[in-house]
Amino acid sequence: MIVLAIETSCDETAVGIVDSDLRVLANELYSQIPEHAPYGGVVPEIAARTHFDRLAEMLELALEKSGLTLRQIDAIAFTRGPGLNGPLLVGAAFARGLAMNLGLPCYGVHHLEGHIAAAHLSFPELSPPYVCLTVSGGHTELTLVEKGFKFTSLGRTRDDAAGEAFDKSGKILGLGYPAGATIGRLGAQGNRKFHRFPRSYLDKNTGEFSFSGLKTAVLRYVEEHGKPWIEEHMPDVCASLEAAIVDILVDKSKWALERCGLDQIVVCGGVSANRALRDKFAEQQKRGKLRAYFPNFEYCTDNGAMIAGACQLRLNAGLADSMGEVQVRPSWPLG
Ligand code: KG4
Ligand code: ZN
Repeated sequence: MIVLAIETSCDETAVGIVDSDLRVLANELYSQIPEHAPYGGVVPEIAARTHFDRLAEMLELALEKSGLTLRQIDAIAFTRGPGLNGPLLVGAAFARGLAMNLGLPCYGVHHLEGHIAAAHLSFPELSPPYVCLTVSGGHTELTLVEKGFKFTSLGRTRDDAAGEAFDKSGKILGLGYPAGATIGRLGAQGNRKFHRFPRSYLDKNTGEFSFSGLKTAVLRYVEEHGKPWIEEHMPDVCASLEAAIVDILVDKSKWALERCGLDQIVVCGGVSANRALRDKFAEQQKRGKLRAYFPNFEYCTDNGAMIAGACQLRLNAGLADSMGEVQVRPSWPLG
């Protein structure tokens, strides 16, 4: 069974092809960063239009990469939600048209299930139960994942997502958009103890996060020291900012593992590409506290293979019916 998936929930126009053994046969994407960077964030209307312009080209590239023709595809999948309404509609219409034309089933996939599936693409031996920390531009969530696609929320952010904390702070520091990867690169050369930015835990014994105070703290810090001084110390400032976000994510994950009596944790979503976060989890793993699974870098940020992978996991479990709805759902809690 070969699944071809379309991902258009935000600003990546992506097509992935995955077989039932979760082997990735193609994973092509167009990143719309150049379209949105001048506005300092994603403009939904531009995202939808760019998906429309680029999808056919990504489909062709994915087929070329896999060496397959459309006739060898067995099912079409697309991201049904959560995400931006217009961009989701473009992907859904494209997927439905393709499926109808080829006489294939068309499945609507949950975007966060896609991020979780990214770990399964990288670690075929991975098996629930585990705790999943999803950290992306739109989400920061702790979820208990059990066999049979049972998801129980253990907490989420009350305001900004971890990726937003990186992006909004990066904007204040003058690092452009999106700033997560830039902060990661600069922070790798800096001292994480240079400045202690506040860590907001809300209640330590919950899985709830709050990151909105961090950008205010960064703003105050920049006002206090002035732009030239900040620029001079940018690697240290980035390392310190990154340390605050990473400490909160790791501490809350440890709380969730303890609460569920588990030691396996999957960390997924765009922020899981962050080196400092990976290092901190690796340090905990070395101490025997947990086993962390991070997707390969190419499956961390939004991509088509993760959506095809999530579809395959459901099909393999005999749950094709659960993906039959083809209306998009811009707001859609996991589980
Ligand atoms: O999963 P994703 O591609 O899109 C959403 O579903 O939101 O995540 C994008 C987010 C952005 O906020 C970006 O700044 C962040 O992931 N990101 C990173 C890194 N690479 C991407 N944050 C920190 N360190 C990175 N290396
Ligand atoms: Zn995502």
